[in-house]
Amino acid sequence: MAVRRVLKMGDPVLYRVADPVGEFNTRELDALIGDMFDTMAALNGAGLAAPQIGVSRRVVIFGVEANPRYPDVEPVPTTVLINPVIEILSPEMDDGWEGCLSVPGMRGLVRRATRLRYSGFDQKGEPIERVATQFHARVVQHECDHLDGILYPMRLKDMRLFGYEDALFPEM
Ligand code: NI
Repeated sequence: MAVRRVLKMGDPVLYRVADPVGEFNTRELDALIGDMFDTMAALNGAGLAAPQIGVSRRVVIFGVEANPRYPDVEPVPTTVLINPVIEILSPEMDDGWEGCLSVPGMRGLVRRATRLRYSGFDQKGEPIERVATQFHARVVQHECDHLDGILYPMRLKDMRLFGYEDALFPEM
């Protein structure tokens, strides 16, 4: 497997609606997912969508381990989610800071639903269905947006709450 180059905002591949995966347990799909995990780990990401490495397919991965340095960040199970479907379960929304490996060095405040159900398939083609809240729900929405050609800056309500990490959070 390999660490792949991550496309940056402005690349037209990031704005495409990605195609569903039709066949599981192929060399091609398993290699794609392996490369996605290697790339996410190398860049310390919380999630990655296949279009970000130039493959316009409906595949996302995500996962956040518990980290004592960031006690506020709830862990998210390491997940491969293919052909995902999201159902919003509550009208409640929440603002949170997001970053993206395709928008390096920047953060923006994005409003997202706080409770949803997601379903789809894992790497082997087995069905997945989970209810997620808060940060887990945010990560799923962010990654699935990539499959519809949406980057988080396209969801910003206030451009003043979008900027460079070191300017927004000088204490970090
Ligand atoms: Ni992203």
